Amino acid sequence: MKRDIKKLISEMTLEEKASLCSGLNLWQTKPIERIGIPSITMTDGPHGLRKANKSDELGLNNSVPATCFPSGSALAASWDRDLIEKVGEAIGEECIAEDVQILLGPAVNIKRSPLCGRNFEYLSEDPYLISELAANYIKGVQSKGVGTSIKHYAANNQEDYRMTVDVKVNERALREIYLVGFEGAIKQSQPWTVMASYNKVNGVYATENEHLINEILRNEWKFDGIVISDWGAVNDRVEALKAGLDIEMPGSGGEEDKKIIEAVKKGQISEEYLNTAVERILNILFKAYENKKKNQNYDAERHHQLARQVASECMVLLKNEDEILPLKKRGKIAIIGELAVKPRYQGGGSSHIVPTKLEIPYDEITKIAGNAVEIKYTPGYELEKDETNNKLIEEAAYIAKNSDVAVIFAGLPDSYESEGYDREHMRIPESHNKLIQAIAEIQPNVVVVLCNGSPIEMPWIHQVKGILEAYLGGQASGGAIAEILFGEKNPCGKLAETFPRELKDNPSYLNFPGEKNVVNYGEGIFVGYRYYDTKGVEPLFPFGHGLSYTTFEYTNIFTNKNKITDNDTIEVRVKVKNTGKRAGKEIIQLYVRDIQSSVARPHKELKGFQKIYLEPGEEKTVVFNLDKRSFAYYDVDLKDWYVETGDFEILVGSSSKNILLKTVIHITSTTSVQKEYTRNSTINDVIANQYGRQIIYNIIKRIKSDTNDSQDMLNILKKQLETNSQEISSSSQKDMMNAFLKNMPLRALTILSNGIFTEEMVNEVVDELNTISN
Ligand code: BGC
Repeated sequence: MKRDIKKLISEMTLEEKASLCSGLNLWQTKPIERIGIPSITMTDGPHGLRKANKSDELGLNNSVPATCFPSGSALAASWDRDLIEKVGEAIGEECIAEDVQILLGPAVNIKRSPLCGRNFEYLSEDPYLISELAANYIKGVQSKGVGTSIKHYAANNQEDYRMTVDVKVNERALREIYLVGFEGAIKQSQPWTVMASYNKVNGVYATENEHLINEILRNEWKFDGIVISDWGAVNDRVEALKAGLDIEMPGSGGEEDKKIIEAVKKGQISEEYLNTAVERILNILFKAYENKKKNQNYDAERHHQLARQVASECMVLLKNEDEILPLKKRGKIAIIGELAVKPRYQGGGSSHIVPTKLEIPYDEITKIAGNAVEIKYTPGYELEKDETNNKLIEEAAYIAKNSDVAVIFAGLPDSYESEGYDREHMRIPESHNKLIQAIAEIQPNVVVVLCNGSPIEMPWIHQVKGILEAYLGGQASGGAIAEILFGEKNPCGKLAETFPRELKDNPSYLNFPGEKNVVNYGEGIFVGYRYYDTKGVEPLFPFGHGLSYTTFEYTNIFTNKNKITDNDTIEVRVKVKNTGKRAGKEIIQLYVRDIQSSVARPHKELKGFQKIYLEPGEEKTVVFNLDKRSFAYYDVDLKDWYVETGDFEILVGSSSKNILLKTVIHITSTTSVQKEYTRNSTINDVIANQYGRQIIYNIIKRIKSDTNDSQDMLNILKKQLETNSQEISSSSQKDMMNAFLKNMPLRALTILSNGIFTEEMVNEVVDELNTISN
């Protein structure tokens, strides 16, 4: 139905308009019955629906049952756009059935530090991977007529002090690392809403950040949905409205609306401006309302089966020495660790779901193993306690010794990672470490299954043969683990984050979580593998790593062009063959490297990936398309993405470390960079410009007859200019005077020539140069 929203607004009172700018209660917007404006419901995601039983209840750990899909870290490890879209579709169906109009997800903040308590909910340390996966998640949910809220915008990368911390991040890192996930997903899939985060970004709360909301989100990215606040994130309601924040959540019993009314009455904000926010809100409210469907059900069993498939495609086989996995369906297997019977399959906080059903790994292992296997279970540790229980370890050692293989379930208990607080270290409980070490001493065949939402240290890594990173795999992870252990499924996940050897290797180590409520993102753009690779720090497991029960061969890298401009696109093809005996999926990763750059750039950056299925012996051609953004960095002077003319390496491999094919292309920039000269431009900067050298040379010739005084600054400069070199010549760089000249600002010519080169002459150089060169 076509509605005349503008007309409707013209019929609304100021009070009614303001009332739409905040919630009715914890989860709903305010209706205005007089003029037929509906109320809609928003509830949490992201990896399933968390609808509180009542709209005035937070509903943490007490919500309507819903399918619990693998959490963010796991989902991202699938690197599977289609699969994530299917998850989105299923969640969308559940929203429709539960009468929810907007799902609060996906959560796309960058994993800056492995310690962030909410990393389990987030996707990756790589912004491109995030943007692709989030775009497909949004597409899936919204295809069902349900809106999403991409969150938390922006730079909300820690839980400690999350509600007030001031994130100091430079513009380049903000654009290249922290915003790309939002930008890509928003441009590709137009989420209905964006959720502004609690924290400040460079001194201004995200909810009232004009630069983030009005300038970047709306003007640059053309986002036309609504911006809502994270729950309780608004500091100043009027400033937030001015910056472009539409709805404050949850409700404040109308207290905050009064501030808007007053501001309009006092002329601090115009009613027209409020109308633009109301127009955006009404567009979404009606869209949501019109997509509601009565009496809808979803097929919980089908969704559970999907959750199981997704879980198995997310898990990452980190290590598989002597092909310890898959396990044989015969002999004696010891299943050790309480996590095998009390699985941890999701994280704590606002994303916590009450699952429709739950698979227990131990039960599923027994089902799949069959009768020829003798399975014994023993707890090994107490999940709820930190202390090591030696008796349990002894019992476990006894059982392990009398088995052919020991499968140990270890990881992070609930209290170790959650929304609301960060981890203090990267270790799993000492009781888990001691157990693994004790078992490895008496049993050579040890497989560790990890249940955790973020990277951990593995002091026992060389003592065990197999490691399966099962992450927090959702309600069906029990079966998925069993299927992978016995080879019913071939593992095909890869890490979407680096596992550092120890915490102090992480680039944010010195600046996390900050102090005095300020956190300085001192590592700039060097986040995750961008840092480890560039700095040459060996990780425990690199970004993109993951093994399979089969093997793949990469050949024939081919580009359809090798010389392009930054306006062109380029196609890259490689051939990938399954050279093993089992069918399997491989994730092929494409990275780009600027071979020489005038600004600091990472050693490589992910710009493409494809996940393909191959039968044994089968070969497929994988195609990637690259464009300007694949090669660009964000230039803070240009305030735009910029590709420097030069050679770029295209690297294709099975992980960020395992690059198997490369080729080089040449790109010519079509952007003319206008340089602004000032009295603080260095002499080198000026004489790099052909006009600049001529202008200075002419002035010096005019005012200075050669006195042959080799200590005279102007004489030295004159001689240099006569060499016709574009800079103070490198052969003379070792000369102190030349080096001094090179880095000297133009203005210093006046002082160091004792006034012979006057201030007017400095201005003459600057003015002429700016006129000629621009
Ligand atoms: C979280 C959001 C969540 C909201 C509503 C906040 O504390 O940061 O992610 O959507 O609560 O539960």
